[in-house]
Amino acid sequence: MTETTPTAATTQNLRTLHIVTWGCQMNAYDSLRMADVLRPLGYREVATDDADMVIFNTCHIRERAADKLFSALGRLRAVKDARNGRMMIAVAGCVAQAEGAEILRRAPYVDLVVGSQAYHKLPELIAAVEAQHAAVIDTDFPAEQKFDFLPETQSSQGPIANLAIQEGCDKFCTFCVVPYTRGAEASRPVAAIIAEARRLIAGGAREIALLGQNVNAWHGEGPDGKIWPLSRLLATLADLQDLARLRYTTSHPRDMSDDLIQAHRTNPKLMPFLHLPVQSGADAILTAMNRRHTADDFRRIVEKLRNARPDIAFSSDFIIGFPGETDADFAATMALVREVEFALAYSFTYSRRPGTPAADAPNQIPASLAHARLMELQETLRNQQHAFNRAQVGKRFDVLFTGPGRHPGQIAGRSPYLQPVVVEHANLAQGSIHPVTITSANPNSLMATLNQEQIAA
Ligand code: SAH
Ligand code: SF4
Ligand code: F3S
Repeated sequence: MTETTPTAATTQNLRTLHIVTWGCQMNAYDSLRMADVLRPLGYREVATDDADMVIFNTCHIRERAADKLFSALGRLRAVKDARNGRMMIAVAGCVAQAEGAEILRRAPYVDLVVGSQAYHKLPELIAAVEAQHAAVIDTDFPAEQKFDFLPETQSSQGPIANLAIQEGCDKFCTFCVVPYTRGAEASRPVAAIIAEARRLIAGGAREIALLGQNVNAWHGEGPDGKIWPLSRLLATLADLQDLARLRYTTSHPRDMSDDLIQAHRTNPKLMPFLHLPVQSGADAILTAMNRRHTADDFRRIVEKLRNARPDIAFSSDFIIGFPGETDADFAATMALVREVEFALAYSFTYSRRPGTPAADAPNQIPASLAHARLMELQETLRNQQHAFNRAQVGKRFDVLFTGPGRHPGQIAGRSPYLQPVVVEHANLAQGSIHPVTITSANPNSLMATLNQEQIAA
């Protein structure tokens, strides 16, 4: 379909690779895994797009996210032309999965479209592009789980690492493309997860975030042949020496089972911070979204978690202006937000996604109204985030240090609540954990001093 001059790409020697990643943490994780797949072929990553191979790992969640691809492709075309075509352009991720051949129609200089379940096949797909001198598309959902066929993780992620344990979604919220772009829910087995966790820890990880589109729906096969719940996986991971912190994201309220809630009481390595998207505080909207929980269900889950772990804080996602959202529905969302008090939140106006049921709903909300509501919500959420950060001043907690801060002499790390924490005049090893006292709060970060007992130690 396109003319691909295979000169650079057919030599078995060093080839340069540039991966651009958009979207969620799962995409960031997938990009690392794609680099792992390509390394044995001689590809090494470079920071600029003047490379032998450029991969766009794309997001389809909202219209604007998907639009990014085509403007970036337009820009890259000039770079490819300047290299006399000696560049392979691949589109991966959720736009690739959703739009497939349409991408080649709009951007015929793309060489490869690879869906989110086919990354383990990259070597053969690249070989096919080179052999056929034509573009190749693979957006199948293969029967095998890609995780079983990907090479072992080699990319060191540093002190804070992500580990995908679950992928896909069977929930079919009426606004969401993920069940179509990521396929059916699938859980990795315990042994594979533990093995990957050990490799990450050997590579310096002290904190691991378990990832999944619906991570708390994970139910993987244990070494005993039985299906384990997430709480048991977390307990087993907590036994790994040198691993200090565990998280899991993103959870669905419906899968917040009592045993998982209790894990927040009993598992000492589980951090007191949970991302639990609620989307709306109005039952009519939650029903129309097919969320299959009410606003009060969400309140009860939050209460149970606070009982299990009094210092827990929450973050959430909101969609504003979903079809049919009335002033009263929006007021119900605001009421829920004021009641729960979130430490952090992500909120967007509803974006109509082709192929999802809500896109065809007759009662779409005018963009200006949705935007006005969003501004009101975001002001409250911002105030809550600032209040949460200010409430940390004077508190003592452990910080996982990750590297130098922005200014000379500073070292930066992460609080149990994922806030960036900066300490002046300290020289601490990357990956070390030290108790600090928070001295001041900025909207997005905290300043701290090392506790005396630690300096003496
Ligand atoms: N699995 C998670 C979220 C995955 S998508 C859950 O069930 O909550 C991440 C977030 O993107 C969602 O929580 C939602 O708030 C937002 N989102 C998804 N589709 C959207 C759409 N069509 N318009 C606006 N926001 C959307
Ligand atoms: Fe999308 Fe709903 Fe699945 Fe979350 S649970 S990924 S919002 S369909
Ligand atoms: Fe986007 Fe796909 Fe993640 S649509 S949010 S990259 S699962």
